[in-house]
Amino acid sequence: MKPTRLSMRLGLTVTAMSAVLVLVMATFAYATISHQLDVRARDGLNEKLGQIEHSLEESLASTADIVLHPHNLRDQIIGHDNFTLMILDSGTPRKRLMNLGSNEGLELPVPDTDEPLQDFQRLKSAEGYEILVAYKKVRLTSGQQILIILSLDRKSDVTLLNAFVKSTLIGLPLILLLVGGCGWWVVHRGLRPLRAFRKIAERVCARDLSLRMKVTGLPDELRDLAHAVNLMLHRLDGDVQQLTQFSDDLAHELRSPMNNLMGKAQVTLSRERPPQEYKKVLESCTEELERLSLMVSQMLFLASVSQPSARLAFGPVNLHEEAQKVAELFASSAEEKAMLLQIQGSGCAQGDRLMIQRAISNLLSNAIRHGTPGSTVTIMLVEHADEVALAVRNEGDGIETEHLPRLFDRFYRVHPSRSRQQGGTGLGLAIVRSIMTLHGGRVAVESELRQFTAFTLYFPHPLSQKISASTINAPAFS
Ligand SMILES: Nc1ncnc2c1ncn2[C@@H]1O[C@H](COP(=O)(O)OP(=O)(O)O)[C@@H](O)[C@H]1O
Ligand SMILES: [Mg+2]
Repeated sequence: MKPTRLSMRLGLTVTAMSAVLVLVMATFAYATISHQLDVRARDGLNEKLGQIEHSLEESLASTADIVLHPHNLRDQIIGHDNFTLMILDSGTPRKRLMNLGSNEGLELPVPDTDEPLQDFQRLKSAEGYEILVAYKKVRLTSGQQILIILSLDRKSDVTLLNAFVKSTLIGLPLILLLVGGCGWWVVHRGLRPLRAFRKIAERVCARDLSLRMKVTGLPDELRDLAHAVNLMLHRLDGDVQQLTQFSDDLAHELRSPMNNLMGKAQVTLSRERPPQEYKKVLESCTEELERLSLMVSQMLFLASVSQPSARLAFGPVNLHEEAQKVAELFASSAEEKAMLLQIQGSGCAQGDRLMIQRAISNLLSNAIRHGTPGSTVTIMLVEHADEVALAVRNEGDGIETEHLPRLFDRFYRVHPSRSRQQGGTGLGLAIVRSIMTLHGGRVAVESELRQFTAFTLYFPHPLSQKISASTINAPAFS
């Protein structure tokens, strides 16, 4: 089973990799040492043979000399306890003239007189160690021929190699323990910031989104993550604050009409009244209830516009035609104020026909409501290179600059009580903004005091339109 902790998993992986590495290196070192020892053994054997030949040339002229004065050669062999020297004559069978050294008892294979000599031969000693044997035929000054057999017991080499293997086998677990431990420690330390992430994540809740990750001192990879987490918390914080604000506003918006309704009903019921009075009260209550019902349906619409699935009905929309249809609907209310509605220009957009109608209708109803009686309300369409603009412009008192940034917030009105009296909910422009966000566009306002007010819808040009995923997910509360 795989360990679940990253530090443990990495520690074990590093250990396994180190084990393979150490084993490969140890095998390589073993092969190199073994080869070098072999080369040295052969060189040593050759060198010793040369020295023996030299001694024979200098002081031992015949086989008799060898038998009588063995000490000349003994000096070459004694003291080097891994060499064994055997000298044989050339008779058949060969007679042993001398046998000196550590392995005197060892029966070395003696080649026949005519047999060609091998350079080296490898044998096993009684203890199981390798014995390297060299042969050489030498002609003495007397003309007699002798055979020199020099052997080297490689016990010390084998002991050295065994010691190497043993120390490697003992050292390996210690090295692995050390490497594994260090690996685990380094990873454990490196992941410390992640534990800080966890602590923050455990403490974050809707009531407290003020916590932020410490970015200083973090490694680059985690610094980006910490930045992203902080940004996410920041956005969530903003959204939650807006949500809280929205529910406060909503409660506030509902409280006054409900208090009104309740007050009217209580006062009316406090004593007997003529039927006409009941009728009047009921009519006024119905008006209030209609406004409440409008507010609820607008809020439901806002919620539905915030869903990405709202884009499913998108298609090409002729903005001039849609503006025309909306203008016809408002013709009578414009007439009431002796206002003229005119539409100029043309343009197409990709979107939901009914939603676009609703956006234009919200702007037009505001324009007529706030426009100077007898003036003209203009819907102007302009096609730019990458966007199509639809502006609704009316003459009137205009809006003070300080209100402009908040105009599209839910329930925001410049004159709250006047708006309520006129049946406004303060949600019209918020709906316009949500519709435009859904279409990958935007809405802007321009106003000059005592002059005019113009709201412009900007749609992405249908030819260059690529609504990115981020604009599809319109923020639910903005
Ligand atoms: N054409 C306009 N001229 C002046 N003020 C406007 C205009 N359109 C909107 N406003 C201001 O913006 C506020 C918000 O508009 P809106 O969201 O449509 O809410 P409502 O119309 O229900 O009051 C209005 O209350 C009004 O004060
Ligand atoms: Mg409105």
